[in-house]
Amino acid sequence: MSLIRDLTEAEARRAMPMKWGGTEPGVLPAWVAEMDYALAEPITAALHDAVAAGVAGYPWFGAGGPLGKAYAGFAQRQFGQRVDPGWVLPVVDVTAGVRFAIDVLSDPAPVVMPVPAYAPQLAIGEVTGREQWPLTVHPDAERAEIDLTQLDLLLAEGARTLLLTQPHNPWGRVFSRAELEGIRDVVVRHGARVVSDEIHAPLVLPGREHVSYLDVEGTHDHAVAVVAASKAFGTPGLKCAQLVVPDDDARTRLLEAPMVRNDSWSTLGVVAAIAAYTDGDAWLADLRTRLGEQRSLLEQLLAEHLPLARMRPLEATYLAWIDLRAYGHGDPAEVALEHGRVRLAAGHDYQPGLPGHVRLNIATSPERLTEVVHRTAHALTRA
Ligand SMILES: Cc1ncc(COP(=O)(O)O)c(C=O)c1O
Repeated sequence: MSLIRDLTEAEARRAMPMKWGGTEPGVLPAWVAEMDYALAEPITAALHDAVAAGVAGYPWFGAGGPLGKAYAGFAQRQFGQRVDPGWVLPVVDVTAGVRFAIDVLSDPAPVVMPVPAYAPQLAIGEVTGREQWPLTVHPDAERAEIDLTQLDLLLAEGARTLLLTQPHNPWGRVFSRAELEGIRDVVVRHGARVVSDEIHAPLVLPGREHVSYLDVEGTHDHAVAVVAASKAFGTPGLKCAQLVVPDDDARTRLLEAPMVRNDSWSTLGVVAAIAAYTDGDAWLADLRTRLGEQRSLLEQLLAEHLPLARMRPLEATYLAWIDLRAYGHGDPAEVALEHGRVRLAAGHDYQPGLPGHVRLNIATSPERLTEVVHRTAHALTRA
């Protein structure tokens, strides 16, 4: 029997104050990246135990420790990647970890941002006082990938950092080792840096494998990865992510950065992350199976009810990027909300100015996903 348990609507409303709590009753939420599943039992047990013991003090500070050891074990088992526990530094979340890494390690020069991009990261240039140069995937491109010629050009023109997200949200792509090697070659040629946001790494769907950028030869001197258990195990509100920093000098600079530059992380977040990384493999395997089934269901539903929708193969994440331009609505998410009572994420949040796209979260029950697509189809074809 699967370890994945669907939350009832009442449970989901309580568990997810943003996704469900912020959505009016009667509207089905399929927007923000949270899953409608109960937490894995080892995480719940560890949190119960910690609360009962009054674990509420400041978290332990520094690289490595039990969290580093737990992540290193997870990376070895899940990705076949060797990580030294001492490379692992806690941060509050992935968004802040990316900002912190750029802030401390990158030259004060433009950051290359592949677009469409995870929406909140579109402000990273502004917040870190750098220009942000988009590297845009054309919506008609068969495959979403980093154009190495363009990357070469942007780095030649003065950009010093590539923000790589892989697996990619919202592209739904897993990068192959050969692709990552191609990116490395261009980056190394220009002496630039990479910040690799790998929050979705545990969410690679059946048929694909995650390769960390840090697992590619010749990357340790110019790259950090930002990882977390929070997206795959449904604990983003507990606030604990990690920077993986193999380079000694970079690690020292991060550890010695003034504390006001980095937000602290949560002690209970550390508890949840260690439990997930140590005892979460069986639950995660069932999650991937479920998400693989949800992906097939979405493909069937789209073929039947929204046959003009275009979706590249979803290789990772539970976030489907769907091109609905053929239905003629500039903002299909708005139409779906108004006429279908379903809340999707609008494509233009991920690529300003892009019409006709949505991001649809499939991490729910088959029944809810079916209802989400029915309602969306009804709204788009009748509005
Ligand atoms: C690519 C990517 N990075 C970062 C985040 C946010 O992570 P956090 O909640 O740890 O800031 C998300 C959330 O969905 C994401 O998709």
